[in-house]
Amino acid sequence: MKKLILAALFVSLVTILFVKNDILIAAESVSHGGDIVYTKPVKSVIFSHKVHVEDKGLGCDACHSGLFKPKALKAQEKSDFNMDSLYKGKYCGYCHNGKMAFASNTQCARCHTGVKGYAVSQKKPASPASILAGPKQPITIGTGDSAVKFSHDSHTGAFGCDECHSTVFPMKSGKTKVTMEAIYHGQYCGTCHNGKKAFTSSECLKCHAKVPAPKTPLVYKPKGAAPVKFSHDFHASAFKCNDCHKKLFVMQKGGSKMKMDAMYEGKSCGACHNGNVASQVADCEKCHK
Ligand code: HEC
Ligand code: HEC
Ligand code: HEC
Ligand code: HEC
Ligand code: HEC
Ligand code: HEC
Ligand code: HEC
Ligand code: HEC
Ligand code: HEC
Repeated sequence: MKKLILAALFVSLVTILFVKNDILIAAESVSHGGDIVYTKPVKSVIFSHKVHVEDKGLGCDACHSGLFKPKALKAQEKSDFNMDSLYKGKYCGYCHNGKMAFASNTQCARCHTGVKGYAVSQKKPASPASILAGPKQPITIGTGDSAVKFSHDSHTGAFGCDECHSTVFPMKSGKTKVTMEAIYHGQYCGTCHNGKKAFTSSECLKCHAKVPAPKTPLVYKPKGAAPVKFSHDFHASAFKCNDCHKKLFVMQKGGSKMKMDAMYEGKSCGACHNGNVASQVADCEKCHK
């Protein structure tokens, strides 16, 4: 009796294996999963089995032993199916890392066929308004007086995403510490806002709602005296910008050509540092340290 059951089991096991193998072989020669078009969170990313399996010779287990389920659109049910994860080597980023295959932060359009590509794959006309675009709302960079609003709308007409992502900016707001010093040296916004590709970085009010005061002290190293530090932190909290600009100083470091003679006459710093509003000019060490 025991033997009979075992024999029956053996036979059915063989049939199962045989049938399963048969299906697999059929699946491989006819199709392997075909084209998969992701639509969430953005329309639309294309994955082609033909390219990966037939053209590039990747075996099924390169992807189906943990990376992806053999079931279309399973991955996009997960909330972390996004670029951040790809950059961290998950999902497509496991190979699309610049070593095994082109990196996920380059050639966006090879994976993102946009709504146009989606429409073609569904044989529907494209609606150009919703082609993969940057965020609709402007992004605020920084906080306080120096905060700047950056609008994708006014940039993505002329530039592809990869012109800024991820070489100039990461694709996540608040990750970059932008300073004017860096912009003046051609980094961040300054890669274009240099007076050649786009308006120059000296047109402060085109980016800033109001001109922000410098956050770090301005340091001078006059000949024949110890260095001077002028701090907006203190002075701009006690006075209005136009108490000093432009009647006493122009808004550019070194632009006012400050001299002691003028200060003794009650001009320049001496307009206040006269023993009345503030300590006297004769108190050299107040400023020279
Ligand atoms: C380079 C990666 C990769 C390789 C190699 C690969 N696949 Fe896939 N396969 C995927 C992805 C991605 C999906 C979709 C999974 C998802 O969206 O969650 C998928 C889905 C499938 C599906 C489901 C299709 C559907 O419509 O539900 C089948 C079947 C499949 N693959 C079979 C195979 C077979 C057989 C092989 C080998 C001949 C293979 N795949 C090789 C990545 C790959
Ligand atoms: C197991 C590794 C692997 C995984 C996982 C993988 N790819 Fe690829 N992919 C490749 C290789 C290798 C190439 C060809 C080399 C190249 O073009 O850099 C390629 C090429 C491509 C291409 C170019 C196709 C063409 O027509 O030239 C696209 C688009 C693409 N992959 C999209 C995806 C997407 C989307 C995913 C995730 C759903 C994905 N890949 C996951 C390895 C992988
Ligand atoms: C290797 C393929 C691949 C490349 C290259 C790629 N993406 Fe993606 N991208 C995906 C996949 C897969 C998803 C998730 C599925 C979806 O949203 O349809 C995605 C989602 C996104 C999303 C929405 C989710 C999120 O992360 O915010 C944005 C925005 C995006 N990609 C922008 C870009 C930009 C910009 C580039 C180029 C710098 C780029 N992608 C390059 C595959 C790719
Ligand atoms: C001219 C430069 C530029 C271009 C072109 C550009 N971006 Fe951005 N993007 C930025 C900057 C700047 C940020 C904010 C970075 C920061 O705050 O550190 C950003 C942030 C983002 C974010 C994160 C938003 C958030 O709230 O976290 C996404 C998503 C994004 N971009 C998608 C895109 C897509 C998609 C494209 C192409 C259609 C694109 N970007 C083109 C400059 C650009
Ligand atoms: C890839 C090049 C590039 C980068 C990087 C770039 N811009 Fe622009 N920007 C342009 C061009 C080109 C224009 C339009 C021509 C012009 O006005 O000179 C423009 C226009 C603008 C405008 C005027 C249009 C509007 O939105 O009101 C502002 C403001 C602006 N950029 C701010 C920024 C800020 C802030 C950054 C950095 C976070 C930045 N840009 C990064 C190329 C760039
Ligand atoms: C192309 C756009 C752009 C222009 C033009 C521009 N800025 Fe900025 N600026 C920024 C961005 C972006 C930041 C970063 C915001 C933050 O972190 O607060 C910034 C930050 C600052 C800061 C605070 C950080 C630091 O570096 O001290 C000051 C002060 C400042 N800007 C002054 C100016 C002045 C003065 C001008 C004109 C001479 C100017 N900016 C022109 C984009 C611009
Ligand atoms: C007590 C006087 C005083 C007040 C108040 C003041 N500043 Fe200044 N500011 C100066 C002096 C001095 C300089 C340097 C001039 C020079 O070197 O020729 C300067 C330079 C600047 C610069 C150029 C910085 C650079 O690196 O080139 C900016 C921008 C500026 N001020 C903005 C402001 C703003 C905005 C306010 C108001 C929030 C303000 N200042 C208030 C005295 C003042
Ligand atoms: C609009 C008036 C005004 C002008 C102009 C002015 N100061 Fe002052 N300053 C003050 C007052 C008020 C104080 C606080 C009282 C004191 O310490 O004398 C002060 C304090 C200081 C201090 C000590 C506090 C600190 O920030 O470390 C220094 C240093 C200083 N000033 C340097 C300068 C220099 C350098 C200039 C010219 C570039 C200048 N001030 C122009 C009003 C002014
Ligand atoms: C209120 C701040 C302040 C006080 C007080 C002050 N200085 Fe100056 N001094 C400056 C500034 C600002 C400069 C110009 C720095 C530059 O542009 O390189 C300067 C420049 C100088 C210079 C070189 C340029 C010139 O005009 O000759 C000498 C020398 C000098 N100071 C000596 C003195 C002596 C000595 C005293 C005291 C009797 C004094 N300073 C007090 C702020 C001050």
